[in-house]
Amino acid sequence: MKNILVIGSKGMLGMDMMMLLEAHPEYNPIGCTRDELDITKLDLVNRVVEDVSPDMVINCAAYTDVEQAEEQIDRAYQVNSYGPEYLARATKERNIPLVQISTNFVFDGSQEEPYREDQKPHNPINIYGASKLRGEELAQQYNDKVYIIRTSNLFGAHGKNFVQTITRLGETKDTLQVIGDQIGNPTYTKHLAQAIIDIIEENADYGVYHLTNSTPAGAGISWYTFAKKIMEIRGFPTKLTRVTTEAYPTKAHRPRQGVILNTKRPQLPSYQDALQEFLAKHL
Ligand SMILES: NC(=O)c1ccc[n+]([C@@H]2O[C@H](COP(=O)([O-])OP(=O)(O)OC[C@H]3O[C@@H](n4cnc5c(N)ncnc54)[C@H](OP(=O)(O)O)[C@@H]3O)[C@@H](O)[C@H]2O)c1
Repeated sequence: MKNILVIGSKGMLGMDMMMLLEAHPEYNPIGCTRDELDITKLDLVNRVVEDVSPDMVINCAAYTDVEQAEEQIDRAYQVNSYGPEYLARATKERNIPLVQISTNFVFDGSQEEPYREDQKPHNPINIYGASKLRGEELAQQYNDKVYIIRTSNLFGAHGKNFVQTITRLGETKDTLQVIGDQIGNPTYTKHLAQAIIDIIEENADYGVYHLTNSTPAGAGISWYTFAKKIMEIRGFPTKLTRVTTEAYPTKAHRPRQGVILNTKRPQLPSYQDALQEFLAKHL
């Protein structure tokens, strides 16, 4: 039985990670909420890792408010960069692996093709992306047994997300404008959690992985296309209009082409299947 410390266990991904690990006979997951372990406190990180004595740590905790990060810059770096550093130092001390979750926002989205795992330069265009990239670098600097799992556009049962928002709007609105010029890979947290467990089970090489639900020809889809699919599955008659990013000015810039390519692992289910499964179970 392997003890796995899951940090950020009450977040959207953390909850599904706990649920799948609990269902697995070989794993004993120990979840930590922010109240139980604030990863910005080095002493606390050391103490909890010492007390729990895990065989592995999975860090699902992050500062995920992309807009607010533009103003709370220090806080974003503390949680997204130094938190992973402290976890990497504590895990290195015990010679155990760390799984650090990251994002497609480490890339600037200016290239036409999807981004591979080893692609450089990253050149993030917002504070969230820059702080997550620094977190990747620090985690790998302090522990050589690190899995960096980049993912994107998450939806799941345990957090606010695009699918919930569009479903709610579909129930009440006749028309809706949706951004059509930002492309990414929607990803169901349950499928992501399973793909991470597969990596652990197979003792895959440490390094960077891109894990998302798949899209036709690996080309990604826009928020507009994703919203259309949600409306179609739910049978809402809401009329959607495609608009550009400029229609909804935000503090944080977002990559236009944020598609990340999984060249190392089996492909995850399609985003359509993921959406069907999620909507049937949860909305
Ligand atoms: N959501 C997306 O679309 C998306 C896309 C790409 C990558 N990711 C990455 O995927 C991972 C999981 O994201 P998610 O959407 O599941 O995030 P989430 O729902 O926002 O959960 C993050 C969790 O981290 C906790 N947390 C925040 N600061 C902390 C601290 N200092 N110490 C300990 N815990 C802290 C939060 O607790 P409180 O609720 O108490 O603050 C929350 O439970 C993150 O690494 C994120 O960067 C997410």
